[in-house]
Amino acid sequence: MNEILVLYYSRYGSTAEMAQCIARGVETVPNCQARIRTVPPVSTVCEATHDDIPAEGPPYATLNDLQECSGLALGSPTRFGNMAAPLKYFIDSSSSLWLSGALIGKPAGVFTSTSSLHGGQETTLLSMMLPLLHHGMLLLGLPYSEGELLTTESGGTPYGPSHTAGSDSKRPLSHEEKQLCSALGKRIAETCTALGAS
Ligand SMILES: Cc1cc2nc3c(=O)[nH]c(=O)nc-3n(C[C@H](O)[C@H](O)[C@H](O)COP(=O)(O)O)c2cc1C
Repeated sequence: MNEILVLYYSRYGSTAEMAQCIARGVETVPNCQARIRTVPPVSTVCEATHDDIPAEGPPYATLNDLQECSGLALGSPTRFGNMAAPLKYFIDSSSSLWLSGALIGKPAGVFTSTSSLHGGQETTLLSMMLPLLHHGMLLLGLPYSEGELLTTESGGTPYGPSHTAGSDSKRPLSHEEKQLCSALGKRIAETCTALGAS
């Protein structure tokens, strides 16, 4: 069984909804299963710690989740054209995996949600790829054979799925956005299978 880690941070729920669509795409591929994980918010008070188990939603990720996965889908809301601090904070804790080369050769993709259509989806997606490249992961985007890339009037990019959540961050995922999320999950899972990951 290939386990694909779907790891995200979400404050208002849009990136969380994208993660669910990606997980469904993963699980369309035989012998592939999604492991959904999130990260806690970071605090302005350094000493403050969060409960180990969130009140609701998926568990918080540990480095073991990264170590054990065959592939990774990494998602974040856009914050000033970049990924959100809680996700960056978790990634910054992964030096031991970098030193051991634990993620080298594993397929990965990225996804994001913004408020506005031109609010930095592509910059966020590209910046999320940087630490994954340092880890030696194999980055996957979305090919234009996914027809929704050409028909979408909201999110969806060749760098990865995206969502335009609106100024109140409440707009639901469009049909095209959902399809592209599912396509990324399926593509990561199929690549893990083709690589013979266990
Ligand atoms: C500090 C901060 C910075 C943000 N920066 C951007 C931005 O650069 N572009 C944009 O379109 N939306 C921006 N937003 C809006 C979020 O991207 C939007 O609320 C997000 O898509 C919601 O995702 P979520 O429901 O998963 O939390 C920002 C929000 C916050 C709180």
